[in-house]
Amino acid sequence: MNFDIVNENPVQQASDCLVIGILKGGQLSASGKLLDAACSQHLAKILNTGDLEGKNGETLLLHNLPGITAERVLLVGCGEQDKVSLQTLREAAACATSVLQKTGSENAVFYLAELAPDNDQQQCLRHMAEAISVATYRYDKTKSKKEPPAHPLQTIGFYIESGANETANDAVQIGQAIGAGIALARDLGNLPGNICTPTYLAETAVSMGKELGLKTTVLEEADMEKLGMGSLLSVSRGSVQPAKLIVMEYNGSGTDAPIVLVGKGLTFDAGGISIKPAAAMDEMKFDMCGGASVFGAMQAVARLKLPINVVGVVPSSENLPDGDANKPGDVVTSMSGQTIEILNTDAEGRLILCDALTYSERFKPQAVIDIATLTGACVIALGAHASGLLSNDEQLAGEILDCGRQANDRAWQLPLWEDYQKQLDSNFADMANVGGREAGTITAACFLSRFTKEFRWAHLDIAGTAWTKGHHKGATGRPVGLLTQFCINRARGSQH
Ligand code: BES
Ligand code: MN
Ligand code: ZN
Repeated sequence: MNFDIVNENPVQQASDCLVIGILKGGQLSASGKLLDAACSQHLAKILNTGDLEGKNGETLLLHNLPGITAERVLLVGCGEQDKVSLQTLREAAACATSVLQKTGSENAVFYLAELAPDNDQQQCLRHMAEAISVATYRYDKTKSKKEPPAHPLQTIGFYIESGANETANDAVQIGQAIGAGIALARDLGNLPGNICTPTYLAETAVSMGKELGLKTTVLEEADMEKLGMGSLLSVSRGSVQPAKLIVMEYNGSGTDAPIVLVGKGLTFDAGGISIKPAAAMDEMKFDMCGGASVFGAMQAVARLKLPINVVGVVPSSENLPDGDANKPGDVVTSMSGQTIEILNTDAEGRLILCDALTYSERFKPQAVIDIATLTGACVIALGAHASGLLSNDEQLAGEILDCGRQANDRAWQLPLWEDYQKQLDSNFADMANVGGREAGTITAACFLSRFTKEFRWAHLDIAGTAWTKGHHKGATGRPVGLLTQFCINRARGSQH
């Protein structure tokens, strides 16, 4: 799909469809008023019928309005004027896109940026571009009949009243790059565990690296052995599929210290010997969504050519029960030299992440963010709306919370107080891999914090946000938006 900026008056704009905002009470937006004047108050008459009240998400499709060049006009409700937020306009753009996809329209022009709160046209364009590209996502990789839309949307225009087309275009590019990153993360997440194995992820990284000019390195089990990654390898021992440690390096700014993104790439989590119950176990194919979000963010950063260095590190393995699998009580030695008593083999995410975090020290990073579907406890604490955030640096935590708000991909901070650390005490090793039922998300982060002393670090627990359950089961692509925003903001802050 192509996006461009349009300055043409809606009356003369040639298009398959114009998308026009309607406020609560059937009130027309500025562009709506121009159209209405050109078609002898046709729109006002239609709105007077009460067929569209202007509530969020309402739509009404009109054809062949007199006096107007475009073939169709799609009215979309945006709610009360003073309550219009970026989220409102994202929703309006997404609803409009779903309707457009059911029509013969192959292009459309959106006249919604004029409703942006605080006249923040830039942010509005970026979010609309993202929302439109997300709304066109479809998963068909493992369907025998692909059934693509008969009239796929090819070009979307965004109307802005005047001038700065270049900055407007930059904003649209950001939205589009994030949208594509989200689609990549969703595709990888949605693929089943028998296809999306550690080897598949590694191959995807290599081909993506070639396409985008990333330096991709894949560490094999023998390499990890040499590095002493006894914790990561202990998880992989229970599986026939070999583990991979995938490293993707984007160089956009000489020798500057990089941001390192570490994503949990557990391609299927059966729990190991501490096996999970059968119900909904299929959803544990999504246990690599943290890794997938790193793929998505790396792609977005590279497409945007951000002036910054970013390294993506994805430790990838399966967690299955097997004669050679970890057993409760086993003690393993991590790359850091610290020993770990594995009291529950289902707490495997931290076991693969800890070695990947120690490995990340070699990049001398400005900051490390790990992203992981780490704890069921986080789903209980925050549900599907916010990712859990824990950090050893308050400033970094604040920055990430801000990025979440800006990107409409929010996180919420939990404490990483010293008080919780003793829950990890072990009689037989330097630490246990679980800390009991209480504060499970925090003790998981406490575990990771013991491997992140050398750098500023934040942990995002995306167990509740990475995928949707039930009828709309599928990966969400979160937190690609937040991570890309973080890289954008750091790139802006560091420009010399
Ligand atoms: N991948 C799971 C976490 C998870 C569970 C994410 C449910 C989303 C939904 C992780 O590997 C795990 O099994 N964690 C255990 C930790 C426990 C044994 C301390 C959990 O949360 O139950
Ligand atoms: Mn597990
Ligand atoms: Zn897991």
